[in-house]
Amino acid sequence: MSKILVTGGSGFIGGELVNSLVKKGHEVISFDILHNNKSSDFQQFNGSILNPYDLDKAVKNCDMIVHLAAMVGVELTEKKRLECLEINIQGTKFILDAAVKQKVKKVFFSSSSEVYGDQEIIPIKEDAQLKPKSNYGITKMVGEEYLKAYSNFYGFDYNIFRFFNLYGGNQRPEFVIPKFKKAIDNNEKLKIYGDGKQIRSYCNILDAIDGINRIIGNGKKNTTYNIGNNNDPISVIDLANKMVNLSKKNIKIEKISFEKSDRSAKREIYKRQPDISKIIQDLKYSPKINIDKGLKQLFSN
Ligand SMILES: NC(=O)c1ccc[n+]([C@@H]2O[C@H](COP(=O)([O-])OP(=O)(O)OC[C@H]3O[C@@H](n4cnc5c(N)ncnc54)[C@H](O)[C@@H]3O)[C@@H](O)[C@H]2O)c1
Repeated sequence: MSKILVTGGSGFIGGELVNSLVKKGHEVISFDILHNNKSSDFQQFNGSILNPYDLDKAVKNCDMIVHLAAMVGVELTEKKRLECLEINIQGTKFILDAAVKQKVKKVFFSSSSEVYGDQEIIPIKEDAQLKPKSNYGITKMVGEEYLKAYSNFYGFDYNIFRFFNLYGGNQRPEFVIPKFKKAIDNNEKLKIYGDGKQIRSYCNILDAIDGINRIIGNGKKNTTYNIGNNNDPISVIDLANKMVNLSKKNIKIEKISFEKSDRSAKREIYKRQPDISKIIQDLKYSPKINIDKGLKQLFSN
């Protein structure tokens, strides 16, 4: 069993991951600027990834780091561009410095499908040329490059997770599924930006955690993996209709043009679906929760 530091351990993915690593018998330290969990099953370290002193203390004697802490959400990260660059790039560099100093054996970095931007070949494979359109996507691409350069220079191993549109219970409210769910709960209309034909392939958090655990356990050395579910690509408008139908409420769906919203058509990605053949082949990953089942679970909670 290993001693593993999870940055962003209080977040949506981090919270689930910490619990599953503890269940597998690992010694886990959750490192986050916020702590909202009273569990005594793992150590909680309150600190910022922008503070090298905090990091050095927390990373001491760890075998691995799973680096999830970041500023997330394309809207927020466009509004707070400088803060996003600092947290996602400088913060990642400080993690890598701490990893080198404390002789960590392996670092896992959470990247995003945002690094791909618009692609002609869909589903998207890991070796596609990266063309991020958002500030957030650029920070993730730079984070990946720092990780590879550090690994190459200092000799530790790494894996990169590129997540594609995860969803589940404790996700931040800015993301589309929790946003629609909240509007439905409050009997408010659902707002869709643009024509609603943007295609996404949503992956349940529990499937994503399974993918992460497989990579932590047996991922090929210095390899990047897409983590997602490519089975049910769906347009935003169809997703909205599906959620309204599930709620059995009479809720309206309103389309809002990009000009009238705080979003920009320029950085909108129209079709996004992962090719997950690499993680299937290397690690026998197989997402099990389809979108209908996952949404039903959300509504039953
Ligand atoms: N959820 C998705 O669909 C998705 C998709 C692609 C990539 N990702 C990546 O996965 C990772 C986790 O995402 P999430 O959805 O769990 O986000 P989240 O916002 O729920 O979790 C991020 C955590 O990082 C912490 N954090 C932020 N700044 C910090 C700092 N300076 N120091 C310490 N902690 C800090 C936050 O407090 C939060 O608990 C992120 O790196 C994100 O970019 C997520």
